[in-house]
Amino acid sequence: ADGKIEIPIVFHVLYNSADENIPLSQLQDQVTALNEDFSMNNPGRNTIPAEFAAVEANIGVRFVLEDVIRVKTKKRQWRPDDSMKFSSSDGSDVVNPQEFLNIWVVSNMPYRGGNILGYAQFPGGSWATDGVVMDHRFTGTTQYSTGRTATHEVGHWLNLRHIWGDGGCGATDYVADTPDSDAASRGCPTYPTVNCGTADMTMNFMDYSDDPCLNMFTEGQKSRMLSVFANGGFRATM
Ligand code: ARG
Ligand code: ZN
Ligand code: CA
Repeated sequence: ADGKIEIPIVFHVLYNSADENIPLSQLQDQVTALNEDFSMNNPGRNTIPAEFAAVEANIGVRFVLEDVIRVKTKKRQWRPDDSMKFSSSDGSDVVNPQEFLNIWVVSNMPYRGGNILGYAQFPGGSWATDGVVMDHRFTGTTQYSTGRTATHEVGHWLNLRHIWGDGGCGATDYVADTPDSDAASRGCPTYPTVNCGTADMTMNFMDYSDDPCLNMFTEGQKSRMLSVFANGGFRATM
């Protein structure tokens, strides 16, 4: 891929009850939020502290809504086990994953006493399960969401790790300009929140703060994502 990278999205809306069959407008709102977040046009970016605004990045990726597949399913809830990605298990089969970002929108995913908002597959996995899965309540703009869960999951889909490196101080996310952090943030932390000697970048899309408090990617994250599209990269065909 060269020039401006365009990512066509195929949504698979898997519904049992009518409210889970979310409207086109909600999917369009999700695409808008993704485009804001990946082009440094998101509404919350004016709150980013100067220290971090210095490394804020415009990823230069554009998302377009390619298609919406709607499937009525018997399943009332799901697990994060990829079953939604196969028609043989009441889901919907992936569409052309070498050219499209597939996003499955499901009812809900209870897991270990909690609820998963969304999950993603990293580059390099099986094409049959490549893409992102979203709880319909956290897709687009709703009473629970401003669309940042999909941004976080697309970050994983483009090879980004959590900002805290999924471990304590010293665990790496393989990105130099995201400061060392000890654990996932919750809620809307104030700046500075110091855990490993320096302020945590709690407003990074790859942290776990609430949607209104997730506001940036960095230049280091940008180069990690763009290398996935470069010659020899897993998504070079997009
Ligand atoms: N995979 C994470 C989860 O399900 C996504 C968290 C996204 N966080 C957010 N504030 N939107 O918990
Ligand atoms: Zn994550
Ligand atoms: Ca880092």
